Amino acid sequence: MKKRVLSIIAMLAMTVSMAACSSGGSDTPAPTPTEGEEGGEVSSDAGDLITVGYAQVGAESDWRTANTESFKSTFTEDKGYKLIFDDAQQKQENQIKAIRSFIQQDVDYIVVAPVVETGWETVLEEAKEAGIPVILSDRMMQLSDDELYVAWVGGNFVKEGETCGEWLADYLEAQGRGSEDINIVTIQGTIGASAQVGRTEGFGNILAQHDNWKMLDMQSGEFTQAKGQEVMESFLKSYDDIDVVICENDNEAFGAIDAIKAAGKTCGPDGDIIVVGFDSVKAAFESMIAGDLNATFECNPLHGPRVDEIIKKLEAGESVEKIQYVDEAYFDTSMDLETILPERAY
Ligand code: AHR
Repeated sequence: MKKRVLSIIAMLAMTVSMAACSSGGSDTPAPTPTEGEEGGEVSSDAGDLITVGYAQVGAESDWRTANTESFKSTFTEDKGYKLIFDDAQQKQENQIKAIRSFIQQDVDYIVVAPVVETGWETVLEEAKEAGIPVILSDRMMQLSDDELYVAWVGGNFVKEGETCGEWLADYLEAQGRGSEDINIVTIQGTIGASAQVGRTEGFGNILAQHDNWKMLDMQSGEFTQAKGQEVMESFLKSYDDIDVVICENDNEAFGAIDAIKAAGKTCGPDGDIIVVGFDSVKAAFESMIAGDLNATFECNPLHGPRVDEIIKKLEAGESVEKIQYVDEAYFDTSMDLETILPERAY
């Protein structure tokens, strides 16, 4: 933004031909790419392309794969971008390393999907000093200075958790179990990630309204299927009367379902244990159709075009909304899932 404008003015002053001008100072010698980086360094043939560094969390879930694909298919050279993509393998230190590499490469914009909410002040100060605008996508950061980022776009995780709790209350009521004692376990996401913090808080808000609901245990499944299965196996060993398992993403739910079946129990609308997930990925629809999963609460991963819109506005000198929530729905087995599934984009 500001850095790009200054760079263009400097170029004109030096009467260097525009054809030779690479956007946002991308003619700066590039440092060694960070581990996991796929886009490589900013090359001198970046021309007028807008260079965007994306510090992605990892590849832990179907949701994350769809999110990565959304960025890769949006930030293409055809559309005027050079994308430098970094997969942090769910480690904050890798994301910080990636952001520092983006700063060294003098990218035009830095996009971050922060693995956890805290611990970002120093590196964002460095981006600010370098004059590089930072856009947050998907998860949030807790920052003392909101000026350290230009905008955030993502899901309302607290609302997702509350919707899940409200759905459970309605579902139990419809089954004539509204006053029954209900034992619940939660397989949380990565501890400290906005999606975990918000969903735990949101479901907790509804749990607090139901004296007959008991949260037996909560443990992290790291948003992965393998860890979700492991945690559910341990829950099933510790508690013999689980009524509901809240999985903070669909992949954890798939793992939990495997663990429930392996323990000789059943799940889904006709089973012993009610299983719910978050994200609403295609595989969750298949699981509901198969009668394993009861419900999934949507979290939309298609942020590439949303971030593109933010960048376009900034490039045009327009203001952008600081906090941009995406509308999200939920799906359960009472719906016509066979018709909805083919229409799902992820
Ligand atoms: O931050 C969004 C969450 O991260 C999704 O629910 C999950 O699948 C992903 O890992």
